[in-house]
Amino acid sequence: MEHWNGKVALVTGASAGIGAGICKALTQHGMVVVGCARNVDKIRALGEDDAIKTSPGKLVAIKCDLTQESEILSMFDEIRRTLGRLDVCINNAGLGHDSLLLTGQTSDWKNMLDVNVMALCICTREAVKLMREKGNDDGQIIQIVGVSGHRLLSPEMMGLHFYCGTKFMVKALTEGLRREIKALNSHIRISSLSPGLVETEFVDQYLKNDSTRNASSLFKSIQALQPSDISDTILYILSTPQYVEVHDILVLPRDKSV
Ligand SMILES: NC(=O)c1ccc[n+]([C@@H]2O[C@H](COP(=O)([O-])OP(=O)(O)OC[C@H]3O[C@@H](n4cnc5c(N)ncnc54)[C@H](OP(=O)(O)O)[C@@H]3O)[C@@H](O)[C@H]2O)c1
Repeated sequence: MEHWNGKVALVTGASAGIGAGICKALTQHGMVVVGCARNVDKIRALGEDDAIKTSPGKLVAIKCDLTQESEILSMFDEIRRTLGRLDVCINNAGLGHDSLLLTGQTSDWKNMLDVNVMALCICTREAVKLMREKGNDDGQIIQIVGVSGHRLLSPEMMGLHFYCGTKFMVKALTEGLRREIKALNSHIRISSLSPGLVETEFVDQYLKNDSTRNASSLFKSIQALQPSDISDTILYILSTPQYVEVHDILVLPRDKSV
């Protein structure tokens, strides 16, 4: 990881769960991490955590609603102006509404499409643009996909079919992106990481309108992954030598994959 010491990483969805865990891990390895989300105060509070305060790196919090392209573009302008470079972009922000294909709300589908797909594409385009305009040819893009980008989830999670559709789309877009990067003869590396169930706020948000199920009983019944399992895998991807490109890593809880 010495290669990345002092270099700049963007982590979307840094206010909670997997994104917050990645921010901790990268600052501990000396990176300057830009964390973005709507709840910027939660990112600022994370910056006060001892793990980050005493780390050799730094966490910069930027408020950004990823459904608004203008806010994404302003965030990249701020990174360009204040930090002058970008080396790693981790598109982590994402959410799943409980929204059946036959009865779900169009607004929920649009929100998942905006955050899980459109924002990921806009951030990737802007990240590669910033890397290339600074002559940075060894950057790294990491897309957080999920097992739901590989297959539909179990029938108890039927309300996540649209969510799975967004993640299948990210899988296809990631392969397309890699081809476009190769066509430019660029050495920027494109990876994706696909976790199974991780104990974060994701399930609370998915079950927010369901009075029959809740996240805490789910996590009592299943040994889910922890955010640190995912940040360890991110560190593995970043630690590989420049000639290695990790395509996709699937990480699932040993005993049960939903
Ligand atoms: N947890 C799992 O079991 C699991 C499994 C496989 C894949 N994943 C994927 O992992 C990623 C992270 O999920 P998580 O489990 O860490 O979920 P989480 O704890 O609910 O965190 C989601 C993050 O996304 C951000 N976000 C949501 N809407 C946003 C918006 N409009 N603008 C900016 N940020 C927004 C949230 O920030 P604000 O609300 O502050 O904006 C939050 O920081 C997602 O892509 C998810 O699909 C999760």
